[in-house]
Amino acid sequence: MMANGFPLKNCRAVITGASSGLGAEFARQLAPQAATLVLVARRAEALDAVKKELLGFPALIFCCVVDLATDVGRNEVLAFLDAHGLNPNLLINNAGMGDYGSFASSTTEKTRTQLELNITALTMLTHAVLPMLERPGGVLNVSSLASTLPMPNLAVYAASKAYVTSFSEALAVELAPQNITVTCVCPGPTPTNFSKTAKRADGTDTNREGQGLLRISPQRVVAEALAALQQGRACVFPGAGVAIASLFFRLMPRGLMRLLLLWRHGKE
Ligand SMILES: NC(=O)c1ccc[n+]([C@@H]2O[C@H](COP(=O)([O-])OP(=O)(O)OC[C@H]3O[C@@H](n4cnc5c(N)ncnc54)[C@H](OP(=O)(O)O)[C@@H]3O)[C@@H](O)[C@H]2O)c1
Repeated sequence: MMANGFPLKNCRAVITGASSGLGAEFARQLAPQAATLVLVARRAEALDAVKKELLGFPALIFCCVVDLATDVGRNEVLAFLDAHGLNPNLLINNAGMGDYGSFASSTTEKTRTQLELNITALTMLTHAVLPMLERPGGVLNVSSLASTLPMPNLAVYAASKAYVTSFSEALAVELAPQNITVTCVCPGPTPTNFSKTAKRADGTDTNREGQGLLRISPQRVVAEALAALQQGRACVFPGAGVAIASLFFRLMPRGLMRLLLLWRHGKE
């Protein structure tokens, strides 16, 4: 336990990447208890569809259509909060993307977008929102099981998520005395649009061997993440399989890890 935990009742949350997958599910699970939800993503229609689903709940729902991979888009989020007089007490940094395939054959554009979205947007948005975050406050960062090990053919993504986990753990300590709970959720493979976005135009996909044992639903990932935030836990690996795998990866000697990665990579 790092902090007292964040109470979800009547929360005022900003959720990035809320137009699909885990972000949309955060909105669904928060809507029955939240006062305000600000849904952020690029696709206006997809955000509107999530908003329509949630109209029966008391939460006021706003859609903020921006590209978080740009400085302009990130500033637009802040301007949106200001223009609507919104004072969030919870920031969910969920938007993120991957890129399947070798680093050498990746495009500079997709690599740059990944870094901008997974690292820069999460960091700069947190920095900008912290001064306006009402207390008790919460920051929930979506990392990945991939943050616990280097991943050939998903190298930039895994490294970006190692950043997210490390950054979140440090902030959890820094902000606990200020009554701000920081929780990092590290999901394993979860059925969302993630793979569709991560696949390359030439069809390059990832090796899914062993993933079946780790896969759980987006509903369960989000429920475990919100429970951890409420309990003031700094980091959570949803699902028993993912929790065990993460322990295994984190405790494994680096030499053995390299041998395993070489063996698995050789089969791709
Ligand atoms: N699914 C998995 O297996 C898995 C496992 C571990 C961690 N994660 C993490 O979970 C998080 C959510 O991903 P997901 O699995 O739910 O995938 P997803 O269904 O592809 O959702 C990604 C969300 O991010 C938004 N997004 C992408 N680029 C954006 C941009 N430039 N600006 C603003 N929003 C942007 C997308 O909306 P628009 O396209 O409308 O912009 C979408 O709402 C990510 O951080 C991912 O790394 C996923």
